[in-house]
Amino acid sequence: MNTALITGSAGFIGYHCARRWLDDGWQVIGLDSFSDYYDPQLKRDRAAMLAAYPGYKEVEGKVETPGLLMDLFAEHKPAHVVHLAAQAGVRYSIEAPRTYLEANIQGTFELLEAARAHPGAHLLLASTSSAYGANEKMPYAETDKADAQMSFYAATKKATEAMAHSYAHLYDLPVTMFRFFTVYGPWGRPDMALFKFVKAMLNGDPIDVYNHGQMRRDFTYIDDLVEAVRKLADARPTATAAGDFDSLSPVAPFRIVNIGKAKPDALGDFIAEIEHSLGLEAKKNMMEMQAGDVPATWSDTRLLEALTGYKATTELSDGIPEFVTWYRTYYDV
Ligand SMILES: NC(=O)c1ccc[n+]([C@@H]2O[C@H](COP(=O)([O-])OP(=O)(O)OC[C@H]3O[C@@H](n4cnc5c(N)ncnc54)[C@H](O)[C@@H]3O)[C@@H](O)[C@H]2O)c1
Repeated sequence: MNTALITGSAGFIGYHCARRWLDDGWQVIGLDSFSDYYDPQLKRDRAAMLAAYPGYKEVEGKVETPGLLMDLFAEHKPAHVVHLAAQAGVRYSIEAPRTYLEANIQGTFELLEAARAHPGAHLLLASTSSAYGANEKMPYAETDKADAQMSFYAATKKATEAMAHSYAHLYDLPVTMFRFFTVYGPWGRPDMALFKFVKAMLNGDPIDVYNHGQMRRDFTYIDDLVEAVRKLADARPTATAAGDFDSLSPVAPFRIVNIGKAKPDALGDFIAEIEHSLGLEAKKNMMEMQAGDVPATWSDTRLLEALTGYKATTELSDGIPEFVTWYRTYYDV
């Protein structure tokens, strides 16, 4: 049986990815620290559903712990390694940058060291659309220069791209890095807008609308992301580029792939869909732009399509009601 190692398996994206590999008949080793950045009970509940699969093995620990990933690579010889464990969130990186340094940079270093000692896996690592930082050219393409990160979170993720490239080159390790664009869906993250807005609106509280609502996001539904990641796992980078828009390295089996919807929505339309789905009108606190944030994101997904034939399809009018249904059931509201 094939084995996948998934870090951050109790997280939002990790949980959905682990389920997909398990449903495909793989053995999955899930590593997570169950950090208290947001309610750990949500992580425990996701992990409990994974534990119901006979092919699932859970390991609790931090990715940056020296030797931990090394031992997991040695014991399980994974064919796919999906590295999602990280300190996520743009805003928290202004308060607690050291957490990002440890989880994201040291954690990725330990993963690369384990892969160097035990080669053979396709390494699939999470980066972020925040890596595009202050870029104004839209849509964002993987081959665009991206050197002006706006938050320490984005800086740590950009650093992991460079670190992984050097290992891919020096040790011939196949690496695919994902730049995810604002992901949402059931079992989502409590620090992200959809979760916060639904919670506040059901409580009758106002919602904070940044930049006076003048924001656009390439909102990506979780099922579209999982499909893209699963297909890319079977598309190991080789010496052949998919087209002149391919980010494939000239020296290493390494590429960066945007995972987004390729169609940004205005924050106002996003809020209107939530109102429609809840049958409630939001009380809006109009706010200034937050430090570290960007007014718009928009993905160019030609590379994803060329490599996998896949293109995200889920509209807000389908994805938001799925989240609302999950939220009402989970919290019994
Ligand atoms: N959700 C998004 O919109 C989005 C966008 C861009 C990038 N990403 C990236 O995708 C990945 C997954 O994000 P998510 O939304 O599922 O976040 P999440 O916080 O729900 O999941 C991350 C998981 O990693 C675990 N973790 C944190 N630090 C750890 C450590 N040091 N060792 C082991 N486990 C640790 C957490 O407990 C959590 O379960 C992250 O790398 C994130 O930066 C997410």
